[in-house]
Amino acid sequence: MVCLGNICRSPMAEGILRHHLKQNGISALVDSAGTSSWHAGEPPDSRATRECKKNGVDISAQRSRPFVPGDLDEFDLIFAMDSENYNAILRSANSDIQRSKVKLIMNQVYPGKNIPVPDPYYGGPGGFTNVYKMLDEASAKIIELFQNQD
Ligand code: 4NP
Repeated sequence: MVCLGNICRSPMAEGILRHHLKQNGISALVDSAGTSSWHAGEPPDSRATRECKKNGVDISAQRSRPFVPGDLDEFDLIFAMDSENYNAILRSANSDIQRSKVKLIMNQVYPGKNIPVPDPYYGGPGGFTNVYKMLDEASAKIIELFQNQD
């Protein structure tokens, strides 16, 4: 899960997907990162933590880290929150295999529409509620990928 700061959208995405996986008894490695290192080492924004907590998802122990090119080898799927993040990740990719792993997350719900998860950082708490709803929908679709594997 990748956004710009790795303190709002992608840590929420990490926690929400992990929550869905656990509820469905699926084991998978989930992580998140930022295309910037501005907030490296910091916990999620308190508004993100609060929104997740309201929904029974604890993201308080997560810490921001920058996306690194090695993530394109380490992970099978890489979900970008918006097209800026998507393009930044693709600039680090150096093979078709790596490029094929990178997805715009809301395309899991609305294929081909390229809908961004809006950056809630400079807005009010309503932005975080909206982000939660979007990522909850996306996570439900992502776990279908695992369920349809066998
Ligand atoms: P995120 O939100 O990319 O969802 O973590 C942001 C966090 C911090 C900043 C921008 C977006 N910032 O400008 O510091």
